Amino acid sequence: MCGIFGIVTKEIQNLGPILVGAGERLSYRGYDTVGAATIPQEGVIDLRKDAGKIQEIAEKYNFQDMSGDRAILQLRWATFGAPSQINSQPHLDSDGDLVGAHNGNVVNNVELREQFAAEGMIVRSENDGESCVHAVERYHDQGFEMVEAIRMATRDLEGDYSFVIGKVGEDRLYAIKKGSGLVAGITEDLTCIGSDLPSILPITRNILRLNDGEIITIWAGGYEITSVEDGSIIKREPEIADDSMEAAQKGGFDHFMLKEIHEQSQVAGELLHMLDNSPDLNPFLDKLAGARNIYLIACGTSYHAGLLGSVYFNQFAGRAAIPVLAPQFTAQYGSSVGPEDVGIFISQSGETKDVLNAIKTAKEQGMGILGLVNVVGSTLTLVSEVYLPLTCGYEISVPATKTYSNQVLALLYLALRYGGYNTDALNDIPKIMDRTLEEVSGQIDRVVNKLTGWNDLYILGYGLTYPVALEGALKLKEITYTHCEGMLSTEFKHGPLSAVSDGYPVIFTVGPDDIPLIVSGINEVTCRGGHVIAIGFQDSRLEGNAHETIIIPEVDVPEELRSAILALLSVIPLQILSYRCSLSRGYDPDFPRNLSKTLTVD
Ligand code: AGP
Repeated sequence: MCGIFGIVTKEIQNLGPILVGAGERLSYRGYDTVGAATIPQEGVIDLRKDAGKIQEIAEKYNFQDMSGDRAILQLRWATFGAPSQINSQPHLDSDGDLVGAHNGNVVNNVELREQFAAEGMIVRSENDGESCVHAVERYHDQGFEMVEAIRMATRDLEGDYSFVIGKVGEDRLYAIKKGSGLVAGITEDLTCIGSDLPSILPITRNILRLNDGEIITIWAGGYEITSVEDGSIIKREPEIADDSMEAAQKGGFDHFMLKEIHEQSQVAGELLHMLDNSPDLNPFLDKLAGARNIYLIACGTSYHAGLLGSVYFNQFAGRAAIPVLAPQFTAQYGSSVGPEDVGIFISQSGETKDVLNAIKTAKEQGMGILGLVNVVGSTLTLVSEVYLPLTCGYEISVPATKTYSNQVLALLYLALRYGGYNTDALNDIPKIMDRTLEEVSGQIDRVVNKLTGWNDLYILGYGLTYPVALEGALKLKEITYTHCEGMLSTEFKHGPLSAVSDGYPVIFTVGPDDIPLIVSGINEVTCRGGHVIAIGFQDSRLEGNAHETIIIPEVDVPEELRSAILALLSVIPLQILSYRCSLSRGYDPDFPRNLSKTLTVD
């Protein structure tokens, strides 16, 4: 996720304060690099950009003084190309008379850059935003006018994105929406576009929402929408937005956590696109194939993803991948690993001190370092021999949700590819996630009511759902301040069963292959008065034995993937349950007490 903003005004004016204001409002979408450009009627584009946060870069490059009647701004959440000045957006075309910036991912970026260079264009960065500019340049140089050139460029640019582009000597900007957010604002004196409503609201509430597959041409006080598909003009009137600024920032959701839960399907789609096209995938897999032992090293939620990944590797790759809590790595394996071994370090932030400590040991032992990480440019990406980005964009709420799901999906993808399986069936996952979210949401409130008054409970899972039970329990603990323990269901009888009394809540996450075993576990609890909630695919054995069920919609995937995908999906009801329990107890799920999003301390 990145943020773009573009503006065209009637008169040449000081645009600096407008650009900085929009940049500050977009800063939640990316803070790796920032850039702004003003585009003159004649002369040279004024382009100022660098790695860093908006306040820092705006001050260093004096954005406040930028003037003109057209400008573009971009804030970057790095995916392609490290956060550096050269990879910062906006980007120029070869001659320097086009300038553009994007939000999203162009997944065939590497291949396109090679083509552009072979065609004689000047490719300056590794960033996919530059590919958007060259793709337009390619057709504009052949004589196509800008809208037509953009239409043709979209056929070359694979992935989900939106971008804005302008040309010296004109009085307009052009922007396209294909999978990423884009909104326009229109007043008598100016027209602007932005990645989201908050970037525009303080300028105007006269808003035009764009749909995927639309190009908008904007000039001061006016606009025209063109269909990418057939080039026809689309008529649409602006509307008055009545959203409050805060509500707009949360995309209409009450909390960032809920917004991020709903973003899971979209970022899953982006991850799959990225993996299908990543030049780093095969080197990553080659490192694994050549390793004596593979370790999956992480903390907290990321560790739970690793734990599930180890089951996937066993099932689909026939390889042991040893999950380790990062702070235990030195104690458990520090003296026994060596250059023949490889660690996959999994982290949202890429800055968790416990993970960096484990990397230090791994490096000292000469071990191979691979990364699965959301924040590109973080320490983990710098020290990894090869890393794969999680493509989740900025995760604001402290409880990790979308980054967990993409970690799990990435590990499933890697295990399948390692084992020689086709990954096409995974392409349905975004749709399946949306359906799951929709169908389970209505089933959660009665469980929230059942948990009222309980400050102690268990979530149990077995095999593929054991890591899900741990993750669900962590979410509940983290944002409801309740003691909730995740456990292997078969271990429950070895001690914790004594906690069960009348009405004591126990949640089972149930894989389709484990139902007979889980039914025994359920009965061990119910016969002692415990209240059992089962989460799984619809099955009369669960309905007949548990007090309540939360049903995950059936999936149409090859049989060997059914349990693996159930495990990926069954965290969704637990995320929603934790969120609603947190609200019912009067807490703020986004910012739980005593916790921080990135733990850079021992
Ligand atoms: C989960 O909701 C937490 N925010 C926490 O457990 C987190 O996963 C852990 O601190 C590891 O962080 P990382 O993924 O950034 O390394």
